[in-house]
Amino acid sequence: MENSLTLRLPDDWHLHLRDGAMLRGVLPETARHFGRAIVMPNLVPPVVTAAQAAAYRTRILAALPEGAAFEPLMTLYLTEETDPADIRAAAASGLVAAVKLYPAGATTNSQSGVRDFDRVRAVLETMAEIGLPLCTHGEVTTPEVDIFDREAVFIDTVLDPIRRATPGLRVVMEHITTAEGVAYARSGGTDLGATITTHHLIINRNHILVGGIRPHYYCLPVAKREHHRLALRRAATSGEGCFFLGTDSAPHVDALKEHACGCAGCFTATNTLSCLAHVFEEEGALDRLEAFASLNGPAFYRLPPNKGRIRLTRHDTPHSYPKKLFTEAGPVTVFDPGFPLHWVVEG
Ligand code: NCD
Ligand code: ZN
Repeated sequence: MENSLTLRLPDDWHLHLRDGAMLRGVLPETARHFGRAIVMPNLVPPVVTAAQAAAYRTRILAALPEGAAFEPLMTLYLTEETDPADIRAAAASGLVAAVKLYPAGATTNSQSGVRDFDRVRAVLETMAEIGLPLCTHGEVTTPEVDIFDREAVFIDTVLDPIRRATPGLRVVMEHITTAEGVAYARSGGTDLGATITTHHLIINRNHILVGGIRPHYYCLPVAKREHHRLALRRAATSGEGCFFLGTDSAPHVDALKEHACGCAGCFTATNTLSCLAHVFEEEGALDRLEAFASLNGPAFYRLPPNKGRIRLTRHDTPHSYPKKLFTEAGPVTVFDPGFPLHWVVEG
């Protein structure tokens, strides 16, 4: 059995860092093990303009621990009022790496998202022209559509029509959770990628609902049936270039998770790499963890891989990571994979 593994420093291609006290609490957890992250713009108010993204980036850099070399890759939140010229200028200056599409009402802080996709047509055409990726939260919000079907319906009724109407548009299907998402991502050629979270490789919907409701496993898109989880595992561990890590680590304080109307989001930044090494070892694919966590994402985003490396070691005694992160905003529960973690990032 392999006992140690050296990887190019990974990146996280989908991350929620929040702001203020929460940002200060969670940023070190990611900066410890990742070189870069695509930072989601769903703050209150959202990061809509280039000026807002520049100011948010400055706040993130100011919250970094002394000496950390982490690079936040900024995104803009697409609204029906987004100005194509602002997008063009933000991309040309190197400030933003992507634009995020939230269907209005799909998830945490998505009320300013898109209702009528025709109203963002000019922005999407500009993005196709300049090669700026569109990151999609791939769920419809139509009340009649069952929450477990919302990803598959989004692919058929929103994503595929948008891609057909906008040749050259580069798209990342964020946090795919279904076999349909896996199949569509595979079929899309080099302009289509998909992120997969750590937790969707580990939990299915039973983990949320059997034996009592487990709010810390509730996230969006919600975890699906077991056969979908298995499809995600095969995709992530396949080494195929279209699949890369986006943890979607999404901190909420415990008081808002353990609530009558609890927030969606799993906080995985603290133990993500230990969890992933466990999953890839189970799948006999430790040699493909680097492609998933460190190489495929930069290739899609047309960036070089990180120069640094990290080393993971397999310990006989399970790794005792903290069960909660105590931030100035309040305690945040760290994702519990439900099994002991033996792989530890050294250093
Ligand atoms: C995210 C959040 O809390 O911002 N929540 C989640 O369950 N993933 C939003 C999102 O990515 O959907
Ligand atoms: Zn997210």
